[in-house]
Amino acid sequence: MAIKTCRSEPKAKNDMKTFPPDRLTHPTYSDIILSMKAIYPGSFDPITNGHVDVIKRIAKLFDEVVVAVLKNQEKEEFIPLEERIKLVKESVTEIKNISVESFSGLTVKYAKSIGANVIVRGLRAPSDFEYELEMSQINYFLSNGLETLFIMTNPKYSFIRSSRVKELVTLGGEIKELVPDTVYKYLYQKTPLRK
Ligand code: PNS
Repeated sequence: MAIKTCRSEPKAKNDMKTFPPDRLTHPTYSDIILSMKAIYPGSFDPITNGHVDVIKRIAKLFDEVVVAVLKNQEKEEFIPLEERIKLVKESVTEIKNISVESFSGLTVKYAKSIGANVIVRGLRAPSDFEYELEMSQINYFLSNGLETLFIMTNPKYSFIRSSRVKELVTLGGEIKELVPDTVYKYLYQKTPLRK
C-alpha cells in the first residue's frame, strides 16, 4: 500500500473525500507553520564545539536560525565582539540556513525585532537547568509568550563551557579538541598564551 505524504493535496473538488482521509495524510505542524525562525543567543566568548554541535542540530529543525552574539556591557569580554562574530561565522560556514548577528539589551526584544518564533538554548547538565528555567520564564513573561526550546548537549561536549576554555587558555591548558580550529588558531595567535 502506498503511503501518501502529508503534502498530497486534493487535485479537484470531488477529490475532497480523500483529503485528509486518515492520520498519515493529515497536515503536519511544519505544513501549517510555514516558516520557523529560531534565535540562538549567547556570549560565544568564545564559541565552543558544544555550541557548534547545537547550531548544526537546530539548523535541521528550523527554516532559519539566527545565532545572536551578545554585546554585553556588564560582562568583561575576553574576545572583542567583532572578533567573536567572525569566529562564529567561520565555525559554521557550511550551514546554509544560519546567520550570525550581534545584539544588545533584552533577548526577547531582539527576537521580536527579527521575527523569531522561538529561542533555543542548550542544556549541558542538570546544573544548567535552574538558571535556564528562570531565564526562559522571564523571557516568556516579558514577551507575552515567546517559547524557549531546550536541546540537550551531545554528551561528547557536555563538559565544555566558554569560561573553562578561557581559563585553560590563560593557564596554558590544551584546548584543541574543545573549540573549532579557527578559534584555536585565534586564541593562540592573539592572546599571550603559554603552551
Ligand atoms: O552564553 P551565555 O552567556 O550563557 O548567554 C546568556 C544570554 C546572552 C542568553 C543571556 O545573558 C541573555 O539573554 N542576555 C540578554 C539580556 C536578557 O535578555 N536577559 C534576560 C532577562 S533579564
